Amino acid sequence: MKGKFGLSLLMALCLGLCGGLGVVYAGEGVEGSAKADRLDACVAPTAFMRRNHFELIEHQRHITVHEGIRKTDNSLAGCIDCHVRRDAQGSPVPVNAPGEFCAACHEYAGASLDCFTCHATKPTGN
Ligand code: HEC
Ligand code: HEC
Ligand code: HEC
Repeated sequence: MKGKFGLSLLMALCLGLCGGLGVVYAGEGVEGSAKADRLDACVAPTAFMRRNHFELIEHQRHITVHEGIRKTDNSLAGCIDCHVRRDAQGSPVPVNAPGEFCAACHEYAGASLDCFTCHATKPTGN
């Protein structure tokens, strides 16, 4: 649980900057363009995901980083691959951009993540 919110300020600053430079992705994702929009179910029941997705991610991190098991079901990359939306040109819009899947809900909930300073916010294609 160390340094959980340490980089959130940095991230907020970055988002602010990007906004100022006009490369903001605010809600640019086209409605219905995520793979998830065409599916009925998440990796676990929706009610569970709503409340417990961070535990799933924590668990996944634990087994990957500490036990060296790479199971892709609950990987962060998997979440992004399925939930990322595309802009009008068909390019993926970062999941942590304002108004996008992960960010919109976290802003509302007041949760901030430092995950994306290291982890990709778009599919990396591998
Ligand atoms: C293969 C596609 C897929 C993957 C991978 C996936 N999801 Fe989902 N997710 C969905 C779908 C589809 C729904 C909507 C289910 C519904 O309508 O009930 C959903 C719903 C959710 C919800 C609830 C959203 C809401 O509005 O209440 C959360 C939170 C969530 N996913 C987070 C995650 C996280 C975190 C991961 C990675 C651990 C992940 N998802 C991986 C497809 C996926
Ligand atoms: C300082 C950089 C850094 C930060 C910040 C960070 N991670 Fe990671 N994370 C890593 C590295 C490095 C790995 C190991 C990569 C690998 O083995 O594929 C990893 C692996 C993981 C994995 C397992 C692999 C995967 O893709 O599922 C998960 C899950 C994960 N991190 C989640 C998170 C979450 C959630 C946060 C934010 C709360 C976070 N990480 C913040 C660097 C970071
Ligand atoms: C339905 C709303 C919702 C969606 C969608 C959502 N989250 Fe969350 N998330 C939350 C809430 C609420 C919390 C704070 C829970 C708490 O602190 O008890 C949270 C917390 C987290 C945490 C733990 C933060 C920490 O530092 O402990 C991680 C990691 C996380 N979310 C990842 C994701 C990712 C990745 C996505 C997109 C794939 C996502 N979430 C989408 C509502 C959501």
